[in-house]
Amino acid sequence: MYILGIETSCDETSVALMKDNKIIKCWTWTQIKYFQKYGGVVPNIASELHSQNLPILLNEIIDEYPDIMKKIKYIAYTSKPGLIGCLHVGRGFAETLALFFQAKLIPINHLHAHLYIAQYDEKIEWPAIGLVVSGGHTQLYYMKKNLSFEVLGETMDDAAGEVLDKIGRKMGLGYPCGAKIEKLAQKGKSKYKLNVYKNKKNLDFSFSGLKTHALQTWNKIEKNEQNIHDFAYSLQKTIVDLLVSKIELACAKYSAKTVIVGGGVAANQILRKQLKQNLKIKLLVPTKEYCTDNAAMIGFLGYFQIQNSSNK
Ligand code: KG4
Ligand code: ZN
Repeated sequence: MYILGIETSCDETSVALMKDNKIIKCWTWTQIKYFQKYGGVVPNIASELHSQNLPILLNEIIDEYPDIMKKIKYIAYTSKPGLIGCLHVGRGFAETLALFFQAKLIPINHLHAHLYIAQYDEKIEWPAIGLVVSGGHTQLYYMKKNLSFEVLGETMDDAAGEVLDKIGRKMGLGYPCGAKIEKLAQKGKSKYKLNVYKNKKNLDFSFSGLKTHALQTWNKIEKNEQNIHDFAYSLQKTIVDLLVSKIELACAKYSAKTVIVGGGVAANQILRKQLKQNLKIKLLVPTKEYCTDNAAMIGFLGYFQIQNSSNK
């Protein structure tokens, strides 16, 4: 069974060709360079770029895999959440292709897809605790069984990646900043104590206090090379420590057998390392390439939804 995955929720235009739950190829065009000067995504430019790029990508795929394209049976596309105009472009494109290929449409939740792709090489053991940490979301899930997603906690304000992007912008790092802060932090040490909301009783997050405190700290410090490294280290450490502690709390409460972490921030090596060190249960994190937005995760979750549907 061949599935085409389509992702357009934010600033990556991505299409993936899947055979069952295996990726044949995933094409991802990032729009990042267009948004560097704005320090963030401009929604109407992003949707315009998706509508320009999707047909070009499709032509490339048809040229490379003409025989497979004729056999597409399902089109899985990101239906939510995301920038409304961008989602609209993706859905319109998916609907047109579904008509053309006589294929079935499979709407996919982007956040659930970020979690599911973590089991590309190794299966999840249920129940699992899932954390999605991206530029737009920080959400903790209880996953009792296949395709069951219960939100346990989420951010009440900014997302973890958003804090890195916003502080990074003040530091003059452009957009996006998570990976750049990680690189700066490699030569840093824990020097600045940054306050963050740490209610140990609930599983919600709040990053706006940290954002304010980090900005105040940044404005005060002398901008020499070592201080910049130390600031990046301290900011990253504060966020990583909080994410890990919330996962530990959720695992203890729900007797989880697996922890899954997905989304762009899950590409962070320090977060991955600390999770590995701290957790006593199975940990699944996608390869870096599939942490950030991509269509393979959409096609992959689409496969599980198709398997689960009585109406195959
Ligand atoms: O999942 P994603 O590609 O897009 C959204 O759905 O938001 O995540 C992008 C976010 C950005 O905030 C970016 O700064 C962050 O992921 N990010 C990282 C790293 N790579 C990307 N954060 C920390 N460390 C990284 N290595
Ligand atoms: Zn995402």
